[in-house]
Parts: sequence; C-alpha cells; structure tokens
Amino acid sequence: MDKHMEIAEITEEVKAELVRQAQEAYKNAYVPYSNYPVGAAVLWESGRIVSGCNIENASYGLTCCAERNTIFHGAGLGERRIKAVAVAVPTEAFPSPCGACRQVIREFARDCLIILVNGKGETRLTSLGELLPDSFGPEFLD
Ligand code: THU
Repeated sequence: MDKHMEIAEITEEVKAELVRQAQEAYKNAYVPYSNYPVGAAVLWESGRIVSGCNIENASYGLTCCAERNTIFHGAGLGERRIKAVAVAVPTEAFPSPCGACRQVIREFARDCLIILVNGKGETRLTSLGELLPDSFGPEFLD
C-alpha cells in the first residue's frame, strides 16, 4: 500500500480526524431493520471531509449504505477526487465496504486509503486497490 504516493501524503492528524468523524456519523444512522449502524467519512482532494451514515427503508432494497450516502453528498457539493475513506461501526468485528460501495468509491478514485474502524476504536488500514483489484472505472469510457 505504501507504494501509492497519494496514500502516503495523508497525515496522522487527518487520519485521526477521519476516524473521529466516521465514529460520530454512525450515531445518526437510521437502522430500524438491521440494527447495524455504519458511519463514513470521506477526505476529498480539496481537503474537505464529508461524513454520513446508512439510511434504511421499510422497502428494504431502498436502503443506502453509509459510504454511498457520504460520497454522493460530497459529489453533490462539487467534489470529484477521493483521497481517503474511513468506515466505522460499533461492533467488535471490523466493517467491510460492500461491493456496490467499492465500485462507487472507484468512480472518484483509482486507488485511495481505506480506514476500517471497529467499536473498540481499533483501525485497519487497507486500500481500494486491495478491496477492488482489476477494477473497471470511468477512464474505460474515454
Ligand atoms: N452497510 C453500510 O452502510 N456499509 C457497509 O459497508 C455495509 C453495509 C449497511 C447497509 C444496511 O443498512 C446495514 O449496513 C446492513 O446491511
């Protein structure tokens, strides 16, 4: 993962802030069906951090994950390049972004840092390249 310059540029302070905001965000999760709150915080190339959570629906298929809600919010603010994503849950097990969210991250980053945070506040660092190898992305359509 260290071979990616973009990932190495993120300071420990910014990583800690991403973790903090993702942990804060899951408190607003609307999860009456799964009772599985997830918070996400996205660092965009501008330096802006946007956070969000999962929002469920009685028509289950309309549920939207924390990562996608957060990324769509940031893109709607005009952001286009993701530098890092933190995903936090209150459970002992670490979270793992679903396949759909991995592909949505890929739309705004060829590769980026992914920080997974469990309920003990422990972190696991990975990257989009590890979670979604040999991926399809926007440049295929150039
Ligand atoms: N969920 C997320 O928000 N992010 C993930 O990475 C995995 C799954 C949500 C969707 C649903 O509200 C709940 O977790 C259970 O699947």
